[in-house]
Amino acid sequence: MVLALPQTSAPLKGTVKVPGDKSLAHRAALFAALAEGESEVGNYPDSGVTRAMRGALESLGVPSSLESGMLRVNGNGMRPFPNSGATAFCGNSATTIRLLAGAVAATRSAAVLDGSEGLRKRPMDRIVEPLRRMGAKMESTHGYAPLRIDPAVLEGCEYELPVASAQVLSCLQIAALGAKGESRFFVGAPVRDHTTRMLRAMGAQVADSGKEVIVEGLERPLAPLHGTLPGDISSAAFLFVAAAIVPGSRITVEGVGVNPTRTGILDVLSNMGCGVKLENERDDMGEPVADVTISAAPLRAVEVGGDLVVRSIDEFPAIAAAAAFAEGRTVVRDAKELRYKETDRIAAIVSQLRALGAEAEDFDDGFAVVGGTLKGGVARAGGDHRIAMAMAVCSLRAPVEVEGAEILAESFPSFVPTLEGLVR
Ligand code: S3P
Repeated sequence: MVLALPQTSAPLKGTVKVPGDKSLAHRAALFAALAEGESEVGNYPDSGVTRAMRGALESLGVPSSLESGMLRVNGNGMRPFPNSGATAFCGNSATTIRLLAGAVAATRSAAVLDGSEGLRKRPMDRIVEPLRRMGAKMESTHGYAPLRIDPAVLEGCEYELPVASAQVLSCLQIAALGAKGESRFFVGAPVRDHTTRMLRAMGAQVADSGKEVIVEGLERPLAPLHGTLPGDISSAAFLFVAAAIVPGSRITVEGVGVNPTRTGILDVLSNMGCGVKLENERDDMGEPVADVTISAAPLRAVEVGGDLVVRSIDEFPAIAAAAAFAEGRTVVRDAKELRYKETDRIAAIVSQLRALGAEAEDFDDGFAVVGGTLKGGVARAGGDHRIAMAMAVCSLRAPVEVEGAEILAESFPSFVPTLEGLVR
């Protein structure tokens, strides 16, 4: 699919919602499968990656139903999965394979975890090595999927994560639930803490200071989950940037998750000069939620590095699009992890902005974009939903076509109608 949004000089206006948060959705389906009893979770998104987790759980014998946005799961508890020994296909979803590996190990199940060609290129050593230290019997394919796990008894451990990754930390936290005794994990920078918050809401004992996370092996079953997922700030980010780059715009996205470990995009846009307002702040299943209003203002270039990178880790395609319309040279550093996402995002951002005539440069651990240089042309999504949406947002300000844009259905199937609804 080739996508081109209407270029507009008219401001974007209106109030919209975005699909439920996919990071939380993965955890909700998986943790509900590990709980005793029936969980019900509303505003559950139906997209490529959330189908991957639900499909993989079904292969292991824990099906779920999804009707009118309500996910229902009958938990299997911490017992071995009913179809222990099965192969579970995790599609394109690294969160699915990495978190599920922790759950298969924790429940003393056997499984082969596999995925798409793209997923088979994502590094798996980062979970295999620490899970083995906990006693897991596990083999990767030269450091990649497919992963083979056999039943084993796990012991609590102390482990310092070599990368600040929420997927790795969450995998280990889940494994620690099924391990004997206490586990302590040390992380260089505070990563998204959805696992801690959700497990606590289900009765698990987890202490989390951001840099040290302590998990006690479960003595009581996890209680089922009841709640509603907030809108995904990583999807809303593309609407925020669309409003930021079209002068005079002012949009509100209602009911967005504003967990402080995820709100880096709001800090970056505010540092660029944009108006950012949070209203109607509330809480659901331990997660902060708010209505977020973004008002356009002349954007200036920024420097992004350190912990702010971790708090914005999925937002760099969107940030790059904003940078292309800011005054000056935006520089992103400390972001080498971007090379291990759905694509090498440093390479993808720089090559696709260049394809649109913009001045952009890549570094080993980041990139730079000179604002005001983007002219237009044809960009390629390259199998990455976020590159597709970032380039599509640029098409509001320049004649841009995006090839392979159908991949955006992986995370935000209603992106085009939602954005079109704001363009008047
Ligand atoms: C995620 C963690 C991040 C993020 C991914 C979702 C999660 O990955 O990029 O989209 O749900 O835990 P890393 O943990 O590899 O940084």
